[in-house]
Amino acid sequence: MLSKIMEKALNEQINAEFYSSYMYLSMSAWFDSLGLPGAAQWMQVQTQEEWFHGMKLLRYVKERGGRVSLKAIKQPPVEWQSTLHAFQEVLAHEQKVTGLINDLLNLAVEEKDHASNIFLQWFVSEQVEEEANVGTVLDKLRLIGQDTTALFTLDATLGQRVFTPPPAKAA
Ligand code: FEO
Repeated sequence: MLSKIMEKALNEQINAEFYSSYMYLSMSAWFDSLGLPGAAQWMQVQTQEEWFHGMKLLRYVKERGGRVSLKAIKQPPVEWQSTLHAFQEVLAHEQKVTGLINDLLNLAVEEKDHASNIFLQWFVSEQVEEEANVGTVLDKLRLIGQDTTALFTLDATLGQRVFTPPPAKAA
């Protein structure tokens, strides 16, 4: 059984993950409007990953006999200054989420909630991957600078990203 404080914190994280999903969907729509379908696809995959994270947390709360309590998802931004700026915002957002996951893990330790501790380890590893993924794109965007031709080439590469759900055992 989850403690009330852990249940509340996990519900807040569910909201944070669904907000992330919504924000990346907004970024995807913005990239589409710019004529960068590859970046839009990259963000679509990001949207699916965040939805997956939210659902994984939601299932866990249920499994532990907790009460899922969904809250309003705040409105995300609808435009960004540039492609580079949008991806910088992705990195900043993921760093913030990493902090939230670390806080949750600290709480699990404080609460002596070993099951939540083990469950949250998956998210710790996932955040390392999330930050690395966007970091790779940012490195390329910085090299590209104002080169439009190179941007379209990168866009084609970004468009190859597909969502691959983790194996059932890890999900
Ligand atoms: Fe679910 Fe990108 O953190």
